[in-house]
Amino acid sequence: MPAKSDKKAVLTIEDGPTIELPIYEGTLGQDVIDVGQLTSNNFFTFDPGFVSTAACESSITFIDGDKGVLLHRGYPIEQLAEHSTYLETCYLLIYGELPSKAQKEKFESTVYRHTMVHEQLRTFFQGFRRDAHPMAILCGVVGALSAFYHDSLEVSDEEHREIAAFRLIAKMPTLAAMSYKFSIGQPFMYPRNDLNYAENFLYMMFGNPCEKYEVNPVIAKAMDRIFMLHADHEQNASTSAVRLTGSSGANPFACIAAGIAALWGPSHGGANEAVLGMLEEIGDESHIDSFVARAKDKNDPFRLMGFGHRVYKNFDPRAKVMKETADEVLAELGITNDPLLNIAKRLETIALEDPYFVEKKLYPNVDFYSGIILKAIGIPTSMFTVMFAVGRTVGWIAHWNEMHSASFKIGRPRQLYTGHTARDYPE
Ligand code: CMC
Repeated sequence: MPAKSDKKAVLTIEDGPTIELPIYEGTLGQDVIDVGQLTSNNFFTFDPGFVSTAACESSITFIDGDKGVLLHRGYPIEQLAEHSTYLETCYLLIYGELPSKAQKEKFESTVYRHTMVHEQLRTFFQGFRRDAHPMAILCGVVGALSAFYHDSLEVSDEEHREIAAFRLIAKMPTLAAMSYKFSIGQPFMYPRNDLNYAENFLYMMFGNPCEKYEVNPVIAKAMDRIFMLHADHEQNASTSAVRLTGSSGANPFACIAAGIAALWGPSHGGANEAVLGMLEEIGDESHIDSFVARAKDKNDPFRLMGFGHRVYKNFDPRAKVMKETADEVLAELGITNDPLLNIAKRLETIALEDPYFVEKKLYPNVDFYSGIILKAIGIPTSMFTVMFAVGRTVGWIAHWNEMHSASFKIGRPRQLYTGHTARDYPE
């Protein structure tokens, strides 16, 4: 149970009861009002989009959207990006503390030993069309893992949950790379466990059995950072989907498949792909003004992809690190005059100065820059959201595991019903 505040909220219903509601205090951020007893007074709360609703208690990640702060288990994302690695951050998110040297080595070697997927899963891919979107394939094959790993499906068993966590973190890059290889008709590459997480992913993506593939260390570092910057982001749509799915007792692979499905949409993880689509549609710097005008037009549904965030009303701290990484990658690859990049830079400057974006606090978000890096590395646009899913898998698992480590109820929102009242079937 969270710490109760001395303060209480008092809700007075006109011509009705006065209800005292407890307030709980977190260690950081807003206090919450416990509305659980409203139902016994015949009321529900109404908060579409969960704008003012804390759906759970969590100690994994904290975001201060006004200040642009993101902490994982208390550590600022900028410090993790500078000093840590993706797998070390995975350990931190799951277990709550940074690992010792020995714990880190053991964790890494366990992940590396789970990178292969069941051989029969390879044939599963053959059922997809060649032009299937890699996110469609990923939703299917991650859900299908539950048909292959029966020994890690007992969600109330801590050991089963841990094995499932290792399997998911380890196999996601393999499945991601397989989705790509399938789409271009190249053979799947078996993982190489002598390479680190990001290196191995690049090898499985870009290597082939006929040639030796040398991993560029600058690109591998950037890839690791992209995974890390996406590792967790508290109760976003996909994490909430994982929690909600998990609250019914569904197995971990099914829950993560639900997260992948929720991530796919362009308002969430699909935005990185949408950013590139938008930059291509703009096509030339001379067209930027008309696209910005469209984004500001209330009667036009068009939005500038990669701008704005439900929680951040300041610069997304991940975007700052991502921007630095983009500069490093572009310098390493000698890309100085890329037309899409030029459009992106110009768009960023305009949006940061335009009163519409300034007043609405619409800053570039993580997806604005990640697409630029991924494109430079040679990752096809259709794989961008897959990259987000690989990185976010640990966040989904950490939240799912946190939920199962304490008492919880099945998620079951209610509604404000505005349909027909009861009526008789016409005779
Ligand atoms: N371009 C133009 N106008 C925008 C944009 C945008 N990208 N984002 C928000 N607005 C306007 C919106 O029209 C609304 O205006 P008004 O108050 O006049 O109606 C106001 O800003 C608030 O927008 P909202 O939709 O109520 O805000 P939200 O918190 O529900 O939506 C968002 C957040 C991320 C869905 C939205 O900003 C958006 O659609 N951005 C583009 C998609 C995108 O980049 N998504 C990636 C998010 S970061 C990665 C992740 O964590 O998933």
